[in-house]
Amino acid sequence: MEKQFAVIGNPIKHSLSPAMHNAGYETLGINAEYQRFRVEEHCLEEAVKGLRALGFAGWNVTLPHKEAIVSFMDTLTPEAEKAGAVNTVKNQNGRLIGHNTDGKGFVRSVENDLRGLKGKKAVLLGAGGASKGIAMALAQQGMNLHILNRNPEKAKTLVQIIHSVGGTATFGEFEPGDWLENLDLLVQTTSVGLNKEPFPFSLEGIDKEALVVDIIFNPLETSFLREAKKLGCRTQNGLEMLLYQGALAWEFWLGEQAPLDAMRQALKNQLFQGMFYKE
Ligand SMILES: NC(=O)c1ccc[n+]([C@@H]2O[C@H](COP(=O)([O-])OP(=O)(O)OC[C@H]3O[C@@H](n4cnc5c(N)ncnc54)[C@H](OP(=O)(O)O)[C@@H]3O)[C@@H](O)[C@H]2O)c1
Repeated sequence: MEKQFAVIGNPIKHSLSPAMHNAGYETLGINAEYQRFRVEEHCLEEAVKGLRALGFAGWNVTLPHKEAIVSFMDTLTPEAEKAGAVNTVKNQNGRLIGHNTDGKGFVRSVENDLRGLKGKKAVLLGAGGASKGIAMALAQQGMNLHILNRNPEKAKTLVQIIHSVGGTATFGEFEPGDWLENLDLLVQTTSVGLNKEPFPFSLEGIDKEALVVDIIFNPLETSFLREAKKLGCRTQNGLEMLLYQGALAWEFWLGEQAPLDAMRQALKNQLFQGMFYKE
C-alpha cells in the first residue's frame, strides 16, 4: 500500500520538502507520496485528527505550528522535549510520536567539515526560533557558544536556557568585535538577506579558518556569505540544513538511510525553477 507523508504549515506553497522527499522515494523505488497542506492556526487540532484518520504515516511541521502541535502528540522524543517544538510526526498505529530534527540536522550539516565539535567555538548571529534549535544542538555537542542579537535581551534569555541544560554560552552586542578573531564556526540565523538586503556589518578581520554558514537558502548566496568567501573562509548556505533535517525525518519514518544526493539535487532543481530562485 502506498505510504502517505506531508508537510503542514502556513504559508506552505513554497515548501521545498515535497520535491525533496518525492525525489528520494523515486530514487529508492519506495511506494510513497509526500504532499503539502496549508493549515491555519485555529484548525491545527482538526488537521492532526484528519491526518491520523487518513492514515498518514508521518508529516513535517513548519511555521507557525512547531510549538502548538506539541500538545496534540501522544508522546515526544527527547529531541522534541528539549526543543519544546516538533518538526516531525510519526504515526505509529494511530499513536503520534513528536520528534525534532532541526538541531541535529544542522549538526550533521557541519560536523564533517569541522571534524568534531566538542570544545570548539561557535558564534551565532540571531536569537530567534531557528537560532534556538541550532544553539541547543551545538551546546549539546560540547561547543562553546557566543550569541549576538539585535535585541540583546533575547540573546541573554537564550544563553540562560543553554546554561540551564549544562551548556556553555555568552552573549554580546550585534556588531563586529574580538569574537571575529578566533572562532571555528559562524552561523548567520537572522532573516537579514532573505530579500537580498546587505548584512548590517562587515566581517573584516575574521578568522580565515572558520566555517561560515548562512541558514538562508533563497537566495543561495547572501551578501553575508559572499563577503565571508571573499575573506577566505569556507562557506555553506541553508540548503544543507534543510536537506539534513529532511533526511533525519526520513530515517525516523522509514528506518533507512535517505538518498542524500538525489534529495539535494531535487532541492536545487526546485530552487532553480525560477519561481523561487533569487539571482
Ligand atoms: N535552512 C533552513 O532549514 C532554515 C530553517 C529555519 C529557518 N531558516 C531561516 O532562518 C531565518 C530566521 O528564522 P527564525 O524562524 O529564527 O525567525 P525568527 O524567530 O522570527 O527570528 C528572526 C531573527 O532575525 C533577527 N532579525 C530580523 N531582522 C533583523 C535586522 N534587520 N537586523 C538584525 N537582526 C534581525 C531577529 O532579531 P530580533 O530578535 O532583534 O528581532 C531574530 O534574531 C529565516 O531567514 C528563515 O528562512 C532556515
